[in-house]
Amino acid sequence: MGTGKGYGKTILFGEHFVVYGLPAIASALRSYTTAEVKLGDGSGWTVDDQRPATPGYKKKKFNEAMQSIKNVIEYLKIDTENLELEITFAGDLIAASGVGASAAQCTSLSRAINDTFDLNLNDEEINKAAYEGEKAYHGTPSGIDNTASTYGGLIWFVKNLEGGKNTMDLLQSPKKMPLIIANSGITASTTEVVADVRRLKEESPKKFEKIFTKYERLAAEAKKALLEADITTIGNLMNQNHKLLQDITVSGEINDKLVEIALKNGSIGAKMTGTGRGGLVIALAENEEVQDKIAKAIEKEGFNAWKTMIG
Ligand code: MEV
Repeated sequence: MGTGKGYGKTILFGEHFVVYGLPAIASALRSYTTAEVKLGDGSGWTVDDQRPATPGYKKKKFNEAMQSIKNVIEYLKIDTENLELEITFAGDLIAASGVGASAAQCTSLSRAINDTFDLNLNDEEINKAAYEGEKAYHGTPSGIDNTASTYGGLIWFVKNLEGGKNTMDLLQSPKKMPLIIANSGITASTTEVVADVRRLKEESPKKFEKIFTKYERLAAEAKKALLEADITTIGNLMNQNHKLLQDITVSGEINDKLVEIALKNGSIGAKMTGTGRGGLVIALAENEEVQDKIAKAIEKEGFNAWKTMIG
């Protein structure tokens, strides 16, 4: 038997832009998915998915989840014709669109297989295996989700578009900052939304070029602000990033509504995070009292809100 875990993540800056080689900043969450692998007597593999989840999430992502598990098993060259893997997923990470649930699943499975078969893989190799799994969910994943899931912490990430090694810097902020994660309850397809953005970009290259230039500047400022724990600037930049995400059409009505609730209740800055068109919104709070107030206001409107810290 072997076990492994993979952290959830939240993208603070740069979802979608990261797909095109622009920098993004993600923070791993304290919540994680666990995988347990037991060897059965037969062949093939079975899955018992006990993860807590947003209603409808597991059904919508079922085929992708199965393909991603297959990808990881094949990438790690486990011979399931002569071995049976009984895989169980659990943990406290709520499987929802935007929280890196797919990456956490792929990472936890890679670690559990590594543990079961004593493969002696280091984090870089675990991350590569998890990336193979992510392909089933994203088509062309940037790799930021599995990287945050594997390494944890606060990460500056740039995808290498030539296929070489991605840039990954672990950032250390001098102070932890309270964050609220609001769940719209809507599960979006990352593959579809990413493909849609690509189409729009091909249709309006000039418009996208301008937006990309603005975003690149913003990302550099965000890195500096995070390194200085300059919470006002971080919040301000989150608001600006949300506008750019609206410009590329990935923020849905429900995301905008959640952002508005957070800002009205004292958030310094709020934005959608992850795929968008549903999924999650993150909101930064000056202190834990305000964090509590924002979370309660979101819950009053009928949405789930989780409190966490970044930095
Ligand atoms: C999804 O969590 C983040 C996206 O930027 C896709 C990716 O990076 O692969 C939308």
